[in-house]
Amino acid sequence: SVADIGVTGMAVMGSNLARNLARNGFKVAIHNRSVEKTERVIAEHGQDGEFVPAETMDEFVASLQKPRVAIIMVKAGKATDAVIEELATRMDEGDIIVDCGNALFSDTLRREQELRARGLHFVGSGVSGGGEGALNGPSIMPGGSKASYDRLGPMFEKISAHVDGVPCCTHVGENGAGHFVKMVHNGIEYADMQVIAEAYDLMSKALGMSAPEIGKVFEKWNEGNLNSFLIEITAAVLNHTDNVTGKPFVDIILDQAGQKGTGAWTSKTALDLGIPVTGIAEATFARSTSGGTEQREAGRAVLKGEAQTIQIDDAAQFISDLQQALYAAKLVSYSQGFDEIKAGAKEYEWDIKLGDMARIWRGGCIIRAGFLNRITEAYERNPELPLLLADEYFTAEITKCIPAWRRIVAFAAAVGIPAPVFSSTLAYYDAVRAERLPAALVQAQRDYFGAHTYRRVDAEGTYHVEWTGDRTETRQD
Ligand code: 6PG
Repeated sequence: SVADIGVTGMAVMGSNLARNLARNGFKVAIHNRSVEKTERVIAEHGQDGEFVPAETMDEFVASLQKPRVAIIMVKAGKATDAVIEELATRMDEGDIIVDCGNALFSDTLRREQELRARGLHFVGSGVSGGGEGALNGPSIMPGGSKASYDRLGPMFEKISAHVDGVPCCTHVGENGAGHFVKMVHNGIEYADMQVIAEAYDLMSKALGMSAPEIGKVFEKWNEGNLNSFLIEITAAVLNHTDNVTGKPFVDIILDQAGQKGTGAWTSKTALDLGIPVTGIAEATFARSTSGGTEQREAGRAVLKGEAQTIQIDDAAQFISDLQQALYAAKLVSYSQGFDEIKAGAKEYEWDIKLGDMARIWRGGCIIRAGFLNRITEAYERNPELPLLLADEYFTAEITKCIPAWRRIVAFAAAVGIPAPVFSSTLAYYDAVRAERLPAALVQAQRDYFGAHTYRRVDAEGTYHVEWTGDRTETRQD
């Protein structure tokens, strides 16, 4: 039997992706290192559609219609390299290997180059939406060659989430572009999650609200401009009661956030590209701070807050301020994330349409949100937009939030409640709009101790001052 497409790696994401393909009418070859998992998929979900179970890699590759398309859904890193090699040695020119795991884009660049030299297409594809998304319609971000998209794209578009009849999948760009965009998606996910957590923390600590009370607020927010999957699940989590203790569920969870690394990749890559993604980086560091048990124990024991006593006269006003601050901080995080995609596209010569990225994030993925339409519109108005916040719609939106945003950041600092994403995004906002920055002083310092030179506001060229001598200025170029 000849399968349209194959999936190897039958853990949750892989098996759900295979089932989604089968449900959409594709004949799907499935394979797993240990055959039990493959058998279980057939036993439990065989009725989803047409599967071709393969016990060995030989069987798996042999069952695929040419040009073959094989999706890999295994752990990122060495495991992926091993499976790629197993496939590549059995494949023929023009066949397509698709890595749907959360691979680091630089690994994807390397793999694509190696496989291209062997006559194979390699597609690094972001897939977002967790297990549920993979089964019912994820957001899919494939990179790789245009030729590979001609074969793969129609299948991916069919199984992806759809919003207003439009698939949440498009050809992102060549080689590593898909995984790059998925990486930034995850970075934005980190920032969104952290700023939501900060809003929760402020309601909990400053207003003394219970988890279910806060859950109600998020439910309400989900009906307005904050409408999004993450706000929705936050409300669901806060409304949930622990089965064992009867306490609000969130209160029995250890306050240490894990991370598999995509937020750190986004931050590190941004540092390499020289793009400030302060919301994402602070969110990543906030997870690290939470996990720093030794430091927290030492800090908790001796460090005093010297903070003002909390006093809020108008709780409703405070909650409304929080909503606006959350929206503003979120806009900055997205603006910064899009800057990173733009810089990555320039560096690696990808033709990425920023508006299309917002469009394929409208459904299926973790950061799906009502306002993504507006980002698509902004880039349609001006594909060369230098700063998302400078689009007329977003400028108007964020301007409305500023007084509330400042009140929240000032309040958090005064009473000693950490709000790193709220405050770092506001600092970025004020920096990016500033007429003049103190970077001038930094340049002078650099020139003083390292003769690193500086430029003048009133003349061309680079200059240096003889700081330890007679302090004459000389032009250096
Ligand atoms: C998605 C998610 C998904 C996953 C990541 C993040 O888009 O479906 O981003 O890829 O949840 O692994 O996990 P960490 O929070 O552990 O980094």
